[in-house]
Amino acid sequence: MFPAFLIFLFLFSWPITSSANSHEGFLRCLSSSLGSNDSSSISRLVYTQRSSNYTSVLESTIHNSRFITPTSHRPLVIVTPLHVSHVQATIRCTKKHGLQLRTRSGGHDFEGVSYVSEWEAPFAIVDLANLRSVDVDVENEVAWVQSGAIMGELYYAIAQKSRTLAFPGALCHGVAFGGFISSGGYGLLFRKYGLAADNVVDAEFVDVKGRILNRKSMGEDLFWAIRGGGGGSFGIALSWKVKLVRVPEIVTVFSTSRTLEQNATQLLHRWQYITNQFPDGMFPSITLTTTNTTVDDRNRTVVATFNTMYLGRANELVPLMQNVFPELGITIQDCNEMSFVESILVVGLLPPENLEILLNRSYRISYLVATPSFKAKSDYIKKPIPEIGFLGMWPQLLEPVARTVSLSLASYGGIMDEIPESAVPFPHRNGNIYEISYTIRWREEENADSEIYISWMRKLYDYMAPFVSNSPREAYVGYRDLDLGENDEDGHTSYARASVWGRKYFKNNFDRLVKIKTMVDPENFFRHEQSIPPYFS
Ligand SMILES: Cc1cc2nc3c(=O)[nH]c(=O)nc-3n(C[C@H](O)[C@H](O)[C@H](O)COP(=O)(O)OP(=O)(O)OC[C@H]3O[C@@H](n4cnc5c(N)ncnc54)[C@H](O)[C@@H]3O)c2cc1C
Ligand SMILES: *[C@@H]1O[C@H](CO)[C@@H](O)[C@H](O)[C@H]1NC(C)=O
Ligand SMILES: *[C@@H]1O[C@H](CO)[C@@H](O)[C@H](O)[C@H]1NC(C)=O
Ligand SMILES: *[C@@H]1O[C@H](CO)[C@@H](O)[C@H](O)[C@H]1NC(C)=O
Ligand SMILES: *[C@@H]1O[C@H](CO)[C@@H](O)[C@H](O)[C@H]1NC(C)=O
Ligand SMILES: *[C@@H]1O[C@H](CO)[C@@H](O)[C@H](O)[C@H]1NC(C)=O
Ligand SMILES: *[C@@H]1O[C@H](CO)[C@@H](O)[C@H](O)[C@H]1NC(C)=O
Repeated sequence: MFPAFLIFLFLFSWPITSSANSHEGFLRCLSSSLGSNDSSSISRLVYTQRSSNYTSVLESTIHNSRFITPTSHRPLVIVTPLHVSHVQATIRCTKKHGLQLRTRSGGHDFEGVSYVSEWEAPFAIVDLANLRSVDVDVENEVAWVQSGAIMGELYYAIAQKSRTLAFPGALCHGVAFGGFISSGGYGLLFRKYGLAADNVVDAEFVDVKGRILNRKSMGEDLFWAIRGGGGGSFGIALSWKVKLVRVPEIVTVFSTSRTLEQNATQLLHRWQYITNQFPDGMFPSITLTTTNTTVDDRNRTVVATFNTMYLGRANELVPLMQNVFPELGITIQDCNEMSFVESILVVGLLPPENLEILLNRSYRISYLVATPSFKAKSDYIKKPIPEIGFLGMWPQLLEPVARTVSLSLASYGGIMDEIPESAVPFPHRNGNIYEISYTIRWREEENADSEIYISWMRKLYDYMAPFVSNSPREAYVGYRDLDLGENDEDGHTSYARASVWGRKYFKNNFDRLVKIKTMVDPENFFRHEQSIPPYFS
């Protein structure tokens, strides 16, 4: 059974401290840990609510404006380490002064758990944006990447040195490594090379005691857990050693749209039967949106955009498409040849003129700027959805509230069918035809009632239930959704309640994650609304 001392630790793991005390004590602790009481160096490292740059630092990487409201609970302090020792000191001092700690790398969390907390007060953020070195070793085909680096920084650094190496990273350039690898991480190359997490060979990690561990010193259990077990549960990942993968010098991309009037429903229905037959060097996906005809709602229609990135030339891709999916009628004119890194720009809808845009972490496409708040969900599809299922979906997508909805269907199959479910915590492998991610976006100021959009999303999700995976209804932890399970009244994630969302994200890997959590952080210092709980909670 469980040793008594662990129960003892748990009982005393929620110190109550007044914010003012914890705040000043924390700052003193941090200064002395850093061996410096020089206020100028501290001011580049620590932002309190009184610092003039507090708001800009806090909001710099908030990717969902739903969590920038006057009532959002803001952190007491933000620490932006410039050195690994600052991360260690932050853990030590927050623990000592009863501050809870959230870790942020790129701030893309769909529910903002890396920077807001409804139920932790007081809390601090450690923001790793400055820890973002990228070190590419072309000869050995590996790279060391710090957690605060964004995807674009690695793509760019590789492209500077090689046209035929790449990394199976995210579709979007701004996602940071810390949260991405913690989620599993999929993108253009995952049907051929697996998830980002499948390609991690070593890591540097700070545990709850402030120790810096690598793969060897942390052991295979913890090393397993941090590659896809969801961020913010086990400690702070500092950097990752990843394998690079081979790509041809030239890849091909096409993107072609069909409206309902152009048989989108039939094509979409058919796509489900053939998409897993495409070679693994292909990333087939579909985006469903609606036309924005403000003039007359009767003229709105659903648009299915069929996208593909293929690791090869157009003259190979066209016969392949004609063979497997002749109904789509792809011709050489639909295809564009480019380098892999250029395909990242095209797929991410970034301006293709210069690669430097990949380094710009504040660059956002205009659509995201116009509608900065969103609610999203995900589903896994294991048998084709009947046409009638889609026909029932269209009227919902055509409701006026849903003007800025998009559904992304990402084909699975390829090597994803071969990697065992227990290889890393991410369990969605063999048997999935595709994943759907649903997003509805809006601008908060225009309509104070974001509940309209959120309810719309919940209704669509309920509608989809008969067509998607069940027992559990699986979901991707990288697309965090706090609707998937309730927390206790004090917000804590008890084991019983956590296993509801835990099995959706991790299936049977959830139990191993809980076991590892109980070993490495029994007091549950690293926690958020959907962190892995230890057994005794
Ligand atoms: C616009 C957009 C595009 C996306 N595209 C893709 C995609 O193509 N493929 C895909 O798989 N996912 C994608 N995602 C999902 C994304 O991978 C996850 O949201 C991921 O968690 C974001 O990582 P982050 O570091 O940017 O976020 P953060 O909000 O900083 O962190 C997310 C979670 O990880 C924890 N965490 C962050 N850093 C660390 C660390 N160093 N150590 C331990 N825990 C940490 C946080 O506490 C939080 O729980 C996308 C998200 C957005 C908003
Ligand atoms: C820094 O702190 C030390 C003692 O911890 C003190 O002797 C020194 O005067 C302080 N320096 C400044 C600039 O405050
Ligand atoms: C605050 O922001 C301004 C403008 O971005 C910058 O010049 C200044 O150095 C920042 N100050 C600190 C303490 O970070
Ligand atoms: C739609 O499909 C029907 C029957 O399959 C076909 O006759 C028609 O030409 C198609 N329309 C378009 C626009 O492709
Ligand atoms: C829809 O189109 C109108 C008119 O062109 C524009 O003002 C509006 O911003 C668009 N809405 C979205 C969500 O794109
Ligand atoms: C919308 O459709 C109606 C017929 O349903 C048509 O008369 C009108 O011209 C269309 N408007 C636009 C902007 O396409
Ligand atoms: C990055 O993008 C932002 C937003 O588009 C822009 O304002 C800024 O000038 C860009 N920075 C650089 C260095 O190009």
